[in-house]
Amino acid sequence: MNMAKRFLPLFSTILLLAVTVTESEAYSTTTPFQGRKPEKLTHLHFYFHDVISGDKPTSIRVTTPPVTNSSSVSSFGVIVIADNLLTEGPDPTSREVGRAQGMYASTDLNIITFTMVYNLVFTDGEFNGSTVAMYGRNPILSKVRELPIIGGTGAFRFASGYAQPETYKLSGFDAVVEYNVFIRH
Ligand SMILES: *[C@@H]1O[C@H](CO)[C@@H](O)[C@H](O)[C@H]1NC(C)=O
Ligand SMILES: *[C@@H]1O[C@H](CO)[C@@H](O)[C@H](O)[C@H]1NC(C)=O
Repeated sequence: MNMAKRFLPLFSTILLLAVTVTESEAYSTTTPFQGRKPEKLTHLHFYFHDVISGDKPTSIRVTTPPVTNSSSVSSFGVIVIADNLLTEGPDPTSREVGRAQGMYASTDLNIITFTMVYNLVFTDGEFNGSTVAMYGRNPILSKVRELPIIGGTGAFRFASGYAQPETYKLSGFDAVVEYNVFIRH
């Protein structure tokens, strides 16, 4: 038997071990942050159109909770799924800048308050194709509301910040909401 043949099984074992070790390292790799540090602050200003009525709603109610005192006071338990238009001006026919895709649920027993889970998907200008994730509590009858921006994609990778919605116009259940969003990215 020559040397190569005798040591081949040993070499295979070492090779197998090496592969196993490499795979477990690949699962999780942490290195010092080399990328761009959060250094920019972007202020976005747009109008959000929550259209529930008519034959082309962009927000649809998907749950009807059992009737209780709290469901009549705050619509507690209602969930709405939405793909709402975002425009530059308050008029829905003004320039489209994106969509707000997500859902909101009525989650306060006493006053009408939504937990909002939205991706703001930008479709215009330098942020076309980028998104931010907005998640937070929205007591819609209050003048001052604030929702966290918890992340983003594209130009908004590593985003953090906050959004301030203010109701601009209400007609029945349809609303136009003015948004000021401040994003660090
Ligand atoms: C609503 O509240 C009233 C007064 O507190 C109570 O008497 C009644 O049973 C409640 N109804 C329901 C459906 O919870
Ligand atoms: C946004 O990007 C998409 C995909 O690249 C492109 O088709 C579209 O024309 C762009 N819209 C604007 C307004 O630039």
